[in-house]
Amino acid sequence: MFEHIFKNNEAWVARKLALDPAYFEKMAHGQSPEYLYIGCSDSRVTAEELMGVQPGDVFIHRNIANMVISIDLNVMSVINYAVDHLKVRHIIVCGHYGCGGVKASLQSKDLGILNPWLRNIRDVYRLHKDELNAITDPEEKYDRLAELNVQEQCINVIKTAAVQKAYQERGLLVHGWIFDVHTGRLKDLHIDFPRILRSIMEIYRLI
Ligand code: CO
Repeated sequence: MFEHIFKNNEAWVARKLALDPAYFEKMAHGQSPEYLYIGCSDSRVTAEELMGVQPGDVFIHRNIANMVISIDLNVMSVINYAVDHLKVRHIIVCGHYGCGGVKASLQSKDLGILNPWLRNIRDVYRLHKDELNAITDPEEKYDRLAELNVQEQCINVIKTAAVQKAYQERGLLVHGWIFDVHTGRLKDLHIDFPRILRSIMEIYRLI
């Protein structure tokens, strides 16, 4: 049943209007969010709620396992629009521990349409095989792979022309975060953006 959702919506509108009668009038004027957030579709990782932000603050894209794949028109359109038109100042890739997509990528199973999507996570595993194979606890290994996947997806963000240009012109920054579903805490992985940029630009420079 979904009637309660419409009731919740009515109550939300009433709460917003009680605080500011012009709230929705102002909202209708447009958006200028400072952040682009790319996260997992997982129902527990709620983006706005866990960050404590308001409508208008964050431009959001979510897919299975927070992937940034160069031929995915969806995520690439979101990045280009956010960077070139909305002029966001920060791009965040946020993964999470206990990610079903990350776990599924390591199963020897035919998952149909998910095969090509999840294969990108297997590629992340291959890049970091020595570190990951040294971890014996399977849950710990999944969680470390979720972190490394965030790092690799940040690198994929950096490979786009729009981001390289905005970095040079106005200091756009890319961040990698992990959400811990066991504690509710958000962790900054402190990915060294300038260092990564220096190390990969020899190959991926577009501008
Ligand atoms: Co997930």
